[in-house]
Amino acid sequence: MLLLDSHHFGRLSLANRIVMAPMTRSRASQPGDIPNALMATYYAQRASAGLIVTEGTPISPVGRGYSLTPGIYTPEQVAGWSGVTQAVHENHGKIFVQLWHVGRRSHESIAGQTPVSASSLKDPDKVYGPLPEGGFGMIETGVPRAMTLQDIQETIEEFVNAAAHAISAGFDGVELHGAHGYLIDQFMRVASNQRNDAYGGSQHNRMRFLIEVTEAVAQRIGSDRVGLRVSPFVTEGYAQVDPEIGDLTLKALEALAPLKLAYVHFSENISRYVEMPWEYRARARRLYPNPIMVAGKYTAASAEHMLRSGLADLVAFGQPFITNPDFVARVAKGSPLTPVNYEAHSTFYGGGAEGYTDYPEADVVTAPA
Ligand code: PHB
Repeated sequence: MLLLDSHHFGRLSLANRIVMAPMTRSRASQPGDIPNALMATYYAQRASAGLIVTEGTPISPVGRGYSLTPGIYTPEQVAGWSGVTQAVHENHGKIFVQLWHVGRRSHESIAGQTPVSASSLKDPDKVYGPLPEGGFGMIETGVPRAMTLQDIQETIEEFVNAAAHAISAGFDGVELHGAHGYLIDQFMRVASNQRNDAYGGSQHNRMRFLIEVTEAVAQRIGSDRVGLRVSPFVTEGYAQVDPEIGDLTLKALEALAPLKLAYVHFSENISRYVEMPWEYRARARRLYPNPIMVAGKYTAASAEHMLRSGLADLVAFGQPFITNPDFVARVAKGSPLTPVNYEAHSTFYGGGAEGYTDYPEADVVTAPA
């Protein structure tokens, strides 16, 4: 199986092409959004993935959009992450941290201040935060403040500092979250960017923030330690499809190609998406000759098919890794998967070990006929 082949690019050597996709699990210690021993156990259990990409990890307090997510901007958080990377490395795994700034997909009660974005335009979605009557639940996003040029420079600096923290915490690299209607994506789309300075207007201007963040982070930690996630066919955070986002994304990838990033990661399908056409995948492959990762409800069979098509090099899996810590071994042996129990959906986000570190490995050792 191609999925089980090793992968080498730059300094990155992966034992197989199966990636654990970034997934919010909301178990950071409070106060302080600090990664902990339970999280280290969870990731170490899944270290047989060729690469793990952690849950979205805010680079700053104002970059938070969900309660209980771990950050990477305080010394305590960096120390917590060191325990996670050590546990994964002891189990011979590789791990990137996903660097996240949610921009307008937040609320003052989560971000601690008015959320920021490219423009002062509200996100049409709700977000997970504190309820006025107590407890947590879905609340309306706040109206964001438009970032000044100085805010933009400071935010680029925060991405760079977070990447430097990641390397000092022992991560093998970072994935920049440019997908799903979060800050970087907000700069790219017309519905959220109505600036009339160098960061808005033309496609060239709307991709500027993405390019500057990526270049600055690559400059600091080395481009072969930087991945980038994009989602031109996902409408999360938007009321409708942006007619230009597909083209803009390809232009940005063309501009970034000389950097030889570790990978570009297409998130194709979370809850709301438009089918990613094969013709688009082929154009991406032509314009972007470096490693491409795909994610979005793949099965081992559809992932293998995608690798065989030559249009992707790595496939990330989300929910299968929640319930199958030994997902790679099960794929290798053809063992049945433990299905996701949607009744127990409440253990996806928040809580303790239940539904997190208590999924067993398969005891089945022979492949079914
Ligand atoms: C989520 O927590 O549901 C979530 C977070 C980040 C994403 C997508 C979904 O990019």
